[in-house]
Amino acid sequence: MDAFIIQGPAKLAGKVRISGSKNAALPLLFTSLLFDEPVTYENVPRLWDIETTLSLMKSMGTESEWDKEGGKIVVHPKVTSRVAPYEWVKKMRAGILALGPLVAKFGEAQVSLPGGCAIGARPVNFHLDALQKLGAQVEVAEGYVRAKVPTRLLGTRIRFPEVTVTGTENLLIVALSAEGETILENAAREPEVVALGNLLISLGAKIEGLGTSTIHIQGGRLKAPRQAITIPPDRIETGTWIAIALATRQQLELEQCQAGEMKAVLDVFRAIGAGFEISSAGDRIVVLPRDKYNAVDVETQPYPGFATDMQAQVMALLCLASGKSRIRETIFENRFMHVAELRRLGAQIEIDGNNAIVTGPIDLQAAPMMATDLRASASLVVAALAAKGATRISRIYHLDRGYQRLDEKLRRLGAEITRVAE
Ligand code: EPZ
Repeated sequence: MDAFIIQGPAKLAGKVRISGSKNAALPLLFTSLLFDEPVTYENVPRLWDIETTLSLMKSMGTESEWDKEGGKIVVHPKVTSRVAPYEWVKKMRAGILALGPLVAKFGEAQVSLPGGCAIGARPVNFHLDALQKLGAQVEVAEGYVRAKVPTRLLGTRIRFPEVTVTGTENLLIVALSAEGETILENAAREPEVVALGNLLISLGAKIEGLGTSTIHIQGGRLKAPRQAITIPPDRIETGTWIAIALATRQQLELEQCQAGEMKAVLDVFRAIGAGFEISSAGDRIVVLPRDKYNAVDVETQPYPGFATDMQAQVMALLCLASGKSRIRETIFENRFMHVAELRRLGAQIEIDGNNAIVTGPIDLQAAPMMATDLRASASLVVAALAAKGATRISRIYHLDRGYQRLDEKLRRLGAEITRVAE
């Protein structure tokens, strides 16, 4: 396992190119299972979760070539097994995204139940209940979901009890194989759902309401992709870099981003005191730090609300803000694993249920920390770059799952960060 050694406070300057979005790339890659011809992807981020996705699909018979430096993948979907094995799904919960394409294409699937993870139990009952409403036979046995379509799925109205991003993505795909119209209510509005839906529309699908809570899908055949599928920029990586620039009080320029998808996150940073210069196309953001930051109240919500995937990184920044900030996590039941680690740097954070009260400003002091999950590890990097002294962050594989070579990008900006084997 690797660790980072980060010397703070970091002096940074320059431009950061934002990589392709992990949470857009995963559903788009699994969609290749619907087709028989090769599918090409561009601007694919170099992440462990992409590696895991290709390995999972390989275990089902597909082949793929990945030009990691060029960010290009060609998937040859030759599915010979309709089983998504525990061996891979246990490494990446998003393996549940194999369920939709397998049911849609073959009328059957066996997908390992994703385990829970550090941030919560992460059940998939909403996915399974929705499949049953469309007429699939679904059973859970020996840690696997077994889904089978007896004759034909029939479109119907499905209301998700809670907003589920991958649940919406799975059902968008399955509904295409159903007869008639399916209506998804309380559907996820995330840009990654819209990117998937727009791909399907470009291949002939009749889908209305993408980006709203109610999506109408007409069953019908899809054309195979003739053009490369470009992965859109990662809005969470963008937000993470804004937190880094503000916490280190260094002006940074972010390129190839999508400011238009980040209103709630940018509004929180502005309330804290950030200034931004944003290009008219929204693809370039200059982050303007301040000497003094304001304490704020933040509540995570499904998109277009403030993203839960940004909660940990903003908490690290709020340790430097003057006053008491309240952070309310409404999506996951255990997404405060970073709090104990931040306290080791001197942060003053009290937890009350799903609220965290952060008191600042604190001069963070370096101390060893341990990463526990993907976005928590990003939060520790934000804090370490602002802290005085050399901080060691262990179990950095959590970070490599979702950030393309963050240490290399930081070094290019002048950060003193080394990766050590432990
Ligand atoms: C997606 O996870 C993202 N992952 C997560 O990003 C993100 O945090 C999450 O959406 C919320 O925005 C990908 O897109 C690959 P949910 P997902 O289904 O789809 C409960 C990251 O850091 N729920 O929207 O798994 C669930 O427990 C990752 O990049 C059920 O109870 O999340 C959670 O409390 C972490 N039953 C809430 O709903 C279900 O069947 C939202 O979960 C499904 C979900």
